[in-house]
Amino acid sequence: MKYYFLFLLLLFYINPLYAVDSDIALDKAPINIYDIQSIKRGAKIFATTCMACHTMIYLRYNKIAQASGVRYDKMPLHITQWPNGIKPPDLSLEADIHGPDWIYTYLHSFYLDPARPTGFNNLLVPNTAMMNMLVPFQGQQIIASDLNIMQKYSDAPLQWYDVLELQRKGSLTPKQFDDMVTDIVNFLTYAANPYQAFQWKLGYYVLGFLVILFILMYLLKRNYWQDIKKE
Ligand code: HEC
Repeated sequence: MKYYFLFLLLLFYINPLYAVDSDIALDKAPINIYDIQSIKRGAKIFATTCMACHTMIYLRYNKIAQASGVRYDKMPLHITQWPNGIKPPDLSLEADIHGPDWIYTYLHSFYLDPARPTGFNNLLVPNTAMMNMLVPFQGQQIIASDLNIMQKYSDAPLQWYDVLELQRKGSLTPKQFDDMVTDIVNFLTYAANPYQAFQWKLGYYVLGFLVILFILMYLLKRNYWQDIKKE
């Protein structure tokens, strides 16, 4: 029983939700959960580019998603035949499962690999079954350096941009592409918990209320004890 508390503390330290499955470092996704415009842009990209394969079943009644075209009746719910028999996963809770940084890194780290049936491989998820849907925007990346050798001689885990090189430009500049992926990840983060922005705001109000309550209670306590001490 004595160690129960320690065990709880340990649970908070290890974050079991964000699984790490590759040696590539996770790039920080510069998302802003309060930026509704970015979430809407991300939802539009999701509806036009990703929803050909991925569903988002838990967001079916959400107004922002619906207005951006992420609609239940447009999702590939009834497709049973997928290339190589691999069904693209539902992405409603993807940001909870892997975390925003993981998705941001995954979408950045596709590279040309003629040995793969899709023509592309991925640094974060080696031999991924997903086609590189973003190649028209990002351009075509190749492995610029031998990953194994580089990892041997570098102290810190490598970032995708340490290893990959843009071989052919896409329709977007790297900065514009970063913004596009940020919008997608922002939307997926929103989808995993649409009330997150509200919850944070509410948290500040609750803490503010507790501070004011503390001051009032402190003054009240002083007032009570004043009389008691006199006697
Ligand atoms: C042509 C079909 C297709 C399209 C379009 C597509 N994906 Fe995928 N995606 C897949 C498949 C198949 C997988 C499973 C990959 C695997 O398991 O190796 C996948 C996996 C993923 C994963 C990792 C899920 C996990 O838990 O492993 C993410 C994140 C993802 N896709 C995001 C996107 C986004 C964002 C878009 C739109 C820009 C998109 N996908 C468009 C087929 C697709």
